[in-house]
Amino acid sequence: MIAILSALAEEQTGLVECMTRVECVEHAGRTFWLGHLDGQEVVLTLSRIGKVAAALTATALIAKWGVQRMVFTGVAGGTGPGVAVGDVVVGSHYLQHDMDASPLFPRYEIPLTGQSLFPANPLLLEAACAAVREVQSDLRGGRYRADLHCGLIASGDRFVSASSEVHALLAAAAASGFHPLAVEMEGAAVAQVCADYQVPFVAIRTISDRADDAAHTDFPQFVRETASVYALAIVRKMLRL
Ligand code: ADE
Repeated sequence: MIAILSALAEEQTGLVECMTRVECVEHAGRTFWLGHLDGQEVVLTLSRIGKVAAALTATALIAKWGVQRMVFTGVAGGTGPGVAVGDVVVGSHYLQHDMDASPLFPRYEIPLTGQSLFPANPLLLEAACAAVREVQSDLRGGRYRADLHCGLIASGDRFVSASSEVHALLAAAAASGFHPLAVEMEGAAVAQVCADYQVPFVAIRTISDRADDAAHTDFPQFVRETASVYALAIVRKMLRL
């Protein structure tokens, strides 16, 4: 079974309606939709926002339903050069930008794992990128260019909404050799849980804002008007590949 996870309802709108043989289960304060989508057995749910909420949801998906693959779909703030609103970032690696147990452990390292970066599963990564490429021309029919970027996604319990904050975050990450293309608030937490359980994982993030001084207005507008169009097109294409 494949888990399809998003933080917010707007990032998953339309997917439940496309499912067949749907069963709805309440667990841990969340609604889990089990059924079939494009010939695959799936479970859909919303993590809500932040690393703890996302880690809890990923754990429930694995421990209660034994999901064999996990795909996160949602939005992110673009931080890499040329990563524009309406582009898509598929995470090849995930970093927790607010992890700092120094001087006990190196900045960004998840204590007692020896790792700062958690990689995406190579097959899911390739499938996600292929799906984005296949729907790109449809998405380009809208207002955005829908360019695909594949690279590092940084997660933290902070909505980044100032240019000064982005610059500080990027400078600190660069000092440790990391160059995130996008920031969000869940992906790296799910990647860590999936690594512990050895469940293949990938996150696909559409850029809703540039994490700058306009982020607080760009984000809600994009989430309201566009996020679900991308999620629906990319996830359904990925399931069909
Ligand atoms: N998700 C979408 N935009 C974001 C931002 N600017 N900061 C954190 N998470 C986000």
